Amino acid sequence: IEAALGGGPLAGKHVIVTSGPTHEPIDPVRYIANRSSGAQGTALAAALRDLGAKVSFVTGPATVAPPQGVDLIRVETAREMLDAVQAALPADAAIFAAAVADWRVANAADKKMKKDGTGSLPALEFAENPDILATVSQMKKGRPGLVVGFAAETHDVIAHATAKRARKGCDWIVANDVSPATGIMGGTENAVTVIDAEGAESWPRMGKSEVAARLAQRIAEALA
Ligand code: CTP
Ligand code: CA
Repeated sequence: IEAALGGGPLAGKHVIVTSGPTHEPIDPVRYIANRSSGAQGTALAAALRDLGAKVSFVTGPATVAPPQGVDLIRVETAREMLDAVQAALPADAAIFAAAVADWRVANAADKKMKKDGTGSLPALEFAENPDILATVSQMKKGRPGLVVGFAAETHDVIAHATAKRARKGCDWIVANDVSPATGIMGGTENAVTVIDAEGAESWPRMGKSEVAARLAQRIAEALA
């Protein structure tokens, strides 16, 4: 209600949120994807909106519907996502919840690939995608005051996420365990550890919208 009246602790703040998977084409009818539903990024965008922020929501082809009341920018590939984020800058904060494909197909075909009848198999070559979080974290001019990444890990979660925070140069990393046994990837709950310069803070497992509300609150405090 506060946000609807133009108030809230994030009133006047612009926040970019990336969300969802990316799709990397193999040919015009095939692509490489991942299991991200976009649920956590979507919940976070909604929570930031509810605190009064202007949200630029840059989303890949997610399975959950995007939130209302945000500037919606739909993209397909990692490279399109980077372009959209750069076009949405400047921002007070940027939150990178997308599960960006690490690699794209370097030799994507512009026509549908066909079986040739001899049983010969296509050979896909890969190229590394740009790292959107690292690119924004390391901006010399116009860097958002708060840059937050997510780290989806299947093992040694805190060690990998702490190293990732240092490597990319972001302010916070929100780490989670996405090993299949947790059911977190594509599910409705999340168990995260927030890592900042001070250390690691583990939150209990809770609904993704509850994680989003708590993160949005922490972001509001950081920007205040
Ligand atoms: N990310 C990004 N651009 C990429 C890859 C990742 O912006 N090309 C962001 C994600 O949105 C997330 C963070 O970087 O906020 C970490 O993503 P993750 O996949 O965990 O890290 P990677 O550096 O890709 O390392 P790896 O997948 O090898 O663990
Ligand atoms: Ca990755």
